Amino acid sequence: MTNPRAEAAQALANIALQGASLREAMERHAPRIPDPRDRALLMALVSDGARWWPRFDAALDRLLERPLRRKEPAVHALLVLGLVQLEVLELADYAAVAATVEAVRALKRPQLAGLVNAVLRRWQRERATHLAALDAQPETRHAHPRWLAAAIARDWPAQAEDVMAADNREPPLMLRANRRRTTRDALIERLRTDGQSAEPHAWLADAIALPHSTDVTRLPGFAEGLFAVQDGAAQIAADLADARDGQRVLDACAAPGGKACHLLERADVTLTALEFEPRRTGRIRENLARLHLQADVRTGDAGDPSSWWDGQPFDRILIDAPCSATGVLRRRPDVRLHRRADDIPALAAQQQRILAALWPLLAPGGRLLYITCSLLRAENEAVVAPFLAAHADAHAVPFTLPAGQAAAVGWQILPGDGDLDGMYYAVLEKR
Ligand SMILES: C[S@@+](CC[C@H](N)C(=O)[O-])C[C@H]1O[C@@H](n2cnc3c(N)ncnc32)[C@H](O)[C@@H]1O
Repeated sequence: MTNPRAEAAQALANIALQGASLREAMERHAPRIPDPRDRALLMALVSDGARWWPRFDAALDRLLERPLRRKEPAVHALLVLGLVQLEVLELADYAAVAATVEAVRALKRPQLAGLVNAVLRRWQRERATHLAALDAQPETRHAHPRWLAAAIARDWPAQAEDVMAADNREPPLMLRANRRRTTRDALIERLRTDGQSAEPHAWLADAIALPHSTDVTRLPGFAEGLFAVQDGAAQIAADLADARDGQRVLDACAAPGGKACHLLERADVTLTALEFEPRRTGRIRENLARLHLQADVRTGDAGDPSSWWDGQPFDRILIDAPCSATGVLRRRPDVRLHRRADDIPALAAQQQRILAALWPLLAPGGRLLYITCSLLRAENEAVVAPFLAAHADAHAVPFTLPAGQAAAVGWQILPGDGDLDGMYYAVLEKR
């Protein structure tokens, strides 16, 4: 029988110390845990371990005389998980320590069992002192890498504490009812009959919120394509795009197809779904097929239309640009471990390149949405404002939303605003 804590420690070491994504690590380690309850524990441990790594990894620097990260990465990750079980999952002290020590043996490191036991016991004895030290710095208080905590504080000084706290809270599971196949009310009825506490979103017409994440493939209507999983912040795109029957639409950065499918559910448009990564175009096709929708799916570089564009202008263009994903840390806890400060200027350059390359493809009177799931101004208004200054035929359409705040250009939803993911929107129209 495989030990879920030992398996979780290996997965977490893969993510935090060897650069694997959460998805890759889970694909490798989850199949080794056949029992569904143990597998759920594995998932919870790995997600919370990644989320809280910067806090409890720093705690280990206070507790260990010699670091274990390099020589014993899985044992190091297991210790982080021991602290996560004590402080985040709030498991009974005895159970958490005993199970962690047992997991060292499962990792075939029985010689380190005494060390693991001693470190966790020391934490318990000196807990108040260590917590006070960790709480004194924003990066260890909120488990964000230092550069990111500083960037959030610089861009959003008044909101920074709330933003980082929201990044560490469990988000709701949000669904999007597929209008072509059902109504939101009918779907909510079905979900409730299945025992789910499904609620309509207050101001997003297709959104349904469930309090906790679950295996959505087991929810009623999944296979029939009655809904997709999509955070409410992403569902705003269809409202702002306001696409009409008969229009030509380009979704330039489309995989896995969430926003493209929503537009197709809303109106009879002809949609081109472009994606740079060939592997990811398969995800768009799967989602289109399950939701019974059709689009022209292409692989290509949004920044080089000559390689895929047929020369016909588009009435609507969505640029859901590749970005730092700093707005969606609550759903993607591994992002904080992999993103680096010097990724941001490179992403901003790529965003500017795509925006400039696609503007000529927009028909006069047409509308372009520039979207990121970043909360950093460098990827948002600092991309759009200089573009507007350099293009006399472009103007920003003013709008407000029930959650978030106006940016210098466009609108920023910060993580947790209206219990949504962080997302930036600018709506540009061509004169
Ligand atoms: C934020 S995701 C898009 C999410 C999608 N719009 C949705 O709602 O499901 C950005 C996507 O852009 C793709 N991408 C990155 N660079 C690109 C480029 N130069 N041209 C086209 N797609 C690109 C990425 O592979 C990624 O799939």
